[in-house]
Amino acid sequence: MQRWTPSSWRSKPAKHMPTDYPDAEALSRVEDRLHAMPPLVFAGEARRLKSLLGNVARGDAFLLQGGDCAESFREFHADSIRDTFRLILQMAVVLTFSAGKPVVKVGRIAGQFAKPRSEPIETIDGVTLPSYRGDNINGQDFDLVSRTPDPERLMKAYGQSASTLNLLRAYAGGGYADLHNIHGWTLGFVDDSPLGARYRELTDKISEALTFMAAVGVTPETHPDLKRVEVFTSHEALLLGFEEAMTRVDSQGGEWFDTSAHMLWIGERTRQLDGAHVEFMRGIKNPIGLKCGPNMEPEDLLPLIEALNPANEPGRLTVIGRFGSDKIGARLPALMRATKRAGYHVVWSTDPMHGNTLKAANGYKTRPFERILSEVRTFVEIAQAEGVHPGGMHLEMTGQNVTECLGGARALTEDELSHRYHTHCDPRLNADQALELAFLVAENLKAQRPVAPPRLAVG
Ligand code: PEP
Ligand code: CO
Repeated sequence: MQRWTPSSWRSKPAKHMPTDYPDAEALSRVEDRLHAMPPLVFAGEARRLKSLLGNVARGDAFLLQGGDCAESFREFHADSIRDTFRLILQMAVVLTFSAGKPVVKVGRIAGQFAKPRSEPIETIDGVTLPSYRGDNINGQDFDLVSRTPDPERLMKAYGQSASTLNLLRAYAGGGYADLHNIHGWTLGFVDDSPLGARYRELTDKISEALTFMAAVGVTPETHPDLKRVEVFTSHEALLLGFEEAMTRVDSQGGEWFDTSAHMLWIGERTRQLDGAHVEFMRGIKNPIGLKCGPNMEPEDLLPLIEALNPANEPGRLTVIGRFGSDKIGARLPALMRATKRAGYHVVWSTDPMHGNTLKAANGYKTRPFERILSEVRTFVEIAQAEGVHPGGMHLEMTGQNVTECLGGARALTEDELSHRYHTHCDPRLNADQALELAFLVAENLKAQRPVAPPRLAVG
């Protein structure tokens, strides 16, 4: 294998990267400017996430990864960041309480802009233009100027990621995430939600537990960790020029980290063993993910795991299955079995979104809640049958009250999709639907929670 450098990917075939920048020089000038910008995350934080994911790989924790399909410049508001952050906290509380294991929280946020597209061009009313590829590349409006890639958008995306991270860090450490504030997270949502009563019951139990802990001397003053949470960031490492520019040597350990996010993943469409994306990702030391669709065979997966995690470090690699509720049963068991037989340590996660997309009769791209739930449940069942830890969930979701996925407790219909369909790419679960999924999955996980060993009778 050739020597890795942050730019060694440049000699490999790269799919889904825009090649139609009108001025290649301008793009490389922007990459130079990005190279000189401060890192967005620190190597130590990425290492910390890797060690937490190591706990997931060992079966001692869960991973919850979620956020927008594509962040956008237009939908950038403090409120939507807060709402997504709060949703992650709420879901984590539900999962932790039921499954009795810590939840590692990772947002698809603060950098999740670039999208691989199935069609490079789009035709509307006889006019053909390049497809929209994410706000850090081109614009969504259907005109030639918007659709032409503009390198300055990378600078804007960097700035928006920095502001988003700044806010997330403040929410995570500044008191908002204090468990004692759990009733505060609920305001505005519980009263009119079908899940409200269930959620309130859970928060009451947690408050009771906190009162008990305070009585025995465990308070935020004696245990400052009670006041904060750790939330990490992630995105698909699609635009390798950007990722290369953000990749730096860690002064502590002399290793290379991509400082654009704590965790990066390789998409289903760019996971070729001899391609540019695998080449780039094998050399960075961040925890990484690998999407894995219905065409992945064990003989494809094992060499990828070997290339991406040669030291077999638990927590380094998360395999994110995205098969579709109708295909997971036929595809996942062989992959889990082969990986286990080879002795590889990976986190197994499920993305129940990308294999369950369909077009509604009125033209909206959507996903039925039932299929999303079914894929997660099948994932948990298969993992249990294979003796593997069902480690995580990877979701497209938002804390906003959008109408993009069908069904759920409010039984959202096709006719309602047009009401608040705001996504810049794929349909996301709204806050109600995502929390409902957390409750329903928690029930499945609870079923696998070990019962306390019987106590021996004494005397
Ligand atoms: C995504 O996560 O938005 C995505 C494009 O997924 P996949 O690579 O699994 O298709
Ligand atoms: Co998507």
